[in-house]
Amino acid sequence: MEHDDWISILDFGSQYSQLIARRIREQHVYSELMRFDTPAAALAERKPAGIVLSGGPASVFEDKAPRCDPGVFELGIPVLGICYGMQLTALMLRGEVKPGREREYGEARIAVADPAPLFDGLPGALKVWMSHGDQVAALPEGFRVLAQTDTCPFAAMGNDDRRIYGLQFHPEVVHTPRGTAVLRHFVFDVCGCSGSWEMAQFVRESVAAIRAQVGDDHVVCGLSGGVDSSVVAVLLQKAIGDRLHCIFVENGLLRANEAREVEQTFGETFGMDLHVAHARDRFLGALAGVIDPERKRKAIGRVFIDVFAEEARKLGDVRFLAQGTLYPDVIESISPIGGPSATIKSHHNVGGLPDDLQFDLIEPVRELFKDEVRALGRELGMPARIVDRQPFPGPGLAVRILGAVTAERVELLQQADLRVQEEVRKLDNYGEIWQSFAVLLPIQSVGVMGDSRTYENVIALRIVESLDGMTADWFHVPYDTLARISNRIINEVRGVNRVVFDISSKPPSTIEWE
Ligand code: XMP
Repeated sequence: MEHDDWISILDFGSQYSQLIARRIREQHVYSELMRFDTPAAALAERKPAGIVLSGGPASVFEDKAPRCDPGVFELGIPVLGICYGMQLTALMLRGEVKPGREREYGEARIAVADPAPLFDGLPGALKVWMSHGDQVAALPEGFRVLAQTDTCPFAAMGNDDRRIYGLQFHPEVVHTPRGTAVLRHFVFDVCGCSGSWEMAQFVRESVAAIRAQVGDDHVVCGLSGGVDSSVVAVLLQKAIGDRLHCIFVENGLLRANEAREVEQTFGETFGMDLHVAHARDRFLGALAGVIDPERKRKAIGRVFIDVFAEEARKLGDVRFLAQGTLYPDVIESISPIGGPSATIKSHHNVGGLPDDLQFDLIEPVRELFKDEVRALGRELGMPARIVDRQPFPGPGLAVRILGAVTAERVELLQQADLRVQEEVRKLDNYGEIWQSFAVLLPIQSVGVMGDSRTYENVIALRIVESLDGMTADWFHVPYDTLARISNRIINEVRGVNRVVFDISSKPPSTIEWE
């Protein structure tokens, strides 16, 4: 069967599903996550070269355990089940799965029983990462064992005639050191992918897809100053030129100089049809006296919708809204018991728009990881200062000013934060930092300046490393850098006499303070 050169991943809700896609894309083979219950007919139409069934939090024995369409195994397309995906494969092809008495979690060693095709050229014993309760107890007909451990007789299985395979361990995580080799064997040897995919191709295909979807219509895109929406805007412009209209709601809560940079970059450098709504006073008005973090977020969300709607109405007849949604934003929470709830919340950001402003959505980067979006931005010729920008919360500095938000406190935090940025950027390993910023605390502390006593603000530094923002640890910043940041903030920013460093990890803390 002729196939297109890509791998589909049916997502059963594992925290590692995206990582599988990413590992495959790293091999220059395009890979995309799809819902676990995607009909076989829909897959047949899109012709992936292979299908991966991901792991997931459910047990196959639960009532509502998610299953794929049984037709997936009849398409003649190679299938690789990973963890839950393997158990499901065994069960649906009439093998046996037994419930685990206890969860096997962590490092294990497998002994390879039969190297072809997945373990070709690899050592006979391999360190792997396991995380499972149930396991396969009897292989389906036509399958043979490829690897085992002391406690798991079928750690890997395969049927070469049907080209269906299963791995009880996770080849996609770094704790399985040769995992990428195993995935490569599946992708190249079993599925026959060519390994010629690159970002430039993603650009070409996205541009074609956007043109096909939009036709002669117009698109509006909300620019936030962040990486995702910026990259989406540039991609859209490449596809449909001046039928793209960007709205930048300037809420007065961005970091120092960022609002000006957005206007310059997108309005002048890229020459986009950029509509800037200067709404700082409206946001500050809505925030006046608001202290509770959730109320702050809601107030900001409300004003944003109002301002955005007013600007969008001025544009006239626009059918589409482009968003920089990433995959983690797309799939809503996965319930730990019932398997993937898989409620799509793509309308999340438009949900609040009034009835007269309902758009069809365009989400061209929804499959990508943050760093892949950055690579896409570089491919599109965007400047490093935009592409390498750290993640920034929608409610902006308002959630980094604990207590009431006022124009003066925003200005003070912007100035302190600017010093953090300037110093942190000098670090050789700046690239390892996920986020670095200043937080303005709602307390004063006593200090001494010259001969007089001061009673001024405290700034906390939050500098963290993280892979995806879900977990994080405080970054081990060199003392010299901490010293320079502290000296500069206290000497150069009026109203601050103390700087402290946040040494909490997430969980149990969060990255932002509110
Ligand atoms: P927390 O504070 O929950 O943040 O550890 C995790 C990541 O999400 C960012 N963040 C937000 N991003 N809108 C956003 O677009 C928000 O309301 C928001 N709140 C937090 C945060 O900066 C971190 O990278």
